[in-house]
Amino acid sequence: MKKQDRISTGIYGLDDLTGGGFRGNTINVVRGGTGVGKTTFALQYSLFGLGHGGKVVFVSFEMSEEQIIRDCIDIGWEEIGYHIEQGNLKIIHLFGEDLTFPSLDIIEMVRKAMPAQNLRIVIDPLTYPTFYSEKEERKSLSTIFKELRKLGTTVITLEDLEDGNHILEGSTMPLYLADTVVYLQNLGFGEMYDRTLRIMKHRGSKHGDSLYPYSIETGFGIVLRASQKQIERLKPKTKFDEQFKEAIEKTITMGEIGKRLSARIRVLQKNWTRDEDPSHILKLVLEEEKKDTVK
Ligand SMILES: Nc1ncnc2c1ncn2[C@@H]1O[C@H](COP(=O)(O)OP(=O)(O)OP(=O)(O)O)[C@@H](O)[C@H]1O
Ligand SMILES: [Mg+2]
Repeated sequence: MKKQDRISTGIYGLDDLTGGGFRGNTINVVRGGTGVGKTTFALQYSLFGLGHGGKVVFVSFEMSEEQIIRDCIDIGWEEIGYHIEQGNLKIIHLFGEDLTFPSLDIIEMVRKAMPAQNLRIVIDPLTYPTFYSEKEERKSLSTIFKELRKLGTTVITLEDLEDGNHILEGSTMPLYLADTVVYLQNLGFGEMYDRTLRIMKHRGSKHGDSLYPYSIETGFGIVLRASQKQIERLKPKTKFDEQFKEAIEKTITMGEIGKRLSARIRVLQKNWTRDEDPSHILKLVLEEEKKDTVK
């Protein structure tokens, strides 16, 4: 995947763990309990885009434009007023009951607010059930997401309703509909590393699978603390190039299958991030592909 296909998240440290950021035209979910920083994430994502010449539609089911501006100023993002004045940031403050269920109204609202392409779109938060009747829940949400993907790259925040350590069923949308799911958690002991971020899924590329501590810094917003070692772990390793080369040489005598196989081996090589020798896998695959059992 080329770097230019990526949309920087604006969250300091997160792009390194996600192959360069979100993929363009995707639905990216940020979930977590109350006060973990979901709205901060959404605003930081928006302001990063605005700061780099992008356009943003921020659909807020929670805070009014005035409240959003005030919170941004509190954290040190005073430029928000300028972006609104310039017409590059549109905040739509909605109440769930303003929409008819199931509804594609949200798409029309975004389109009207900002008739442009490659938008950053935020829905904060997607409450349950914001957009749909129970009966048409799945069909409708996936249709809305399909339309949103055409307009740009969306961040949706989801509030997990927690009961002690358990996340209550039914408080979230079906997560298989999202391309990326980031989970924010605050253990709440008041310690430095109480806040952690986990990437639950990120379609289309390798991603960090640890728990990363983060803090919310006045002035900057969310800052992740992945160690250099954790970041290195995601980088492709070249020390097994010889093993890959040998395997590719073995495909030469395998005709059509061999051609396809050598391309796949190259893909694997480009993405080999582990310290483990790939010879075992390469040998296994070559042997299986040589089998002539399909008539
Ligand atoms: N100006 C600030 N400087 C530093 N940290 C801040 C600042 N404003 C808020 N925070 C931190 O961010 C947290 C709340 O963040 P945010 O509103 O983004 O959370 P949320 O997940 O959206 O919560 P909610 O359940 O209210 O939607 C606060 O608990 C506070 O710790
Ligand atoms: Mg919030």
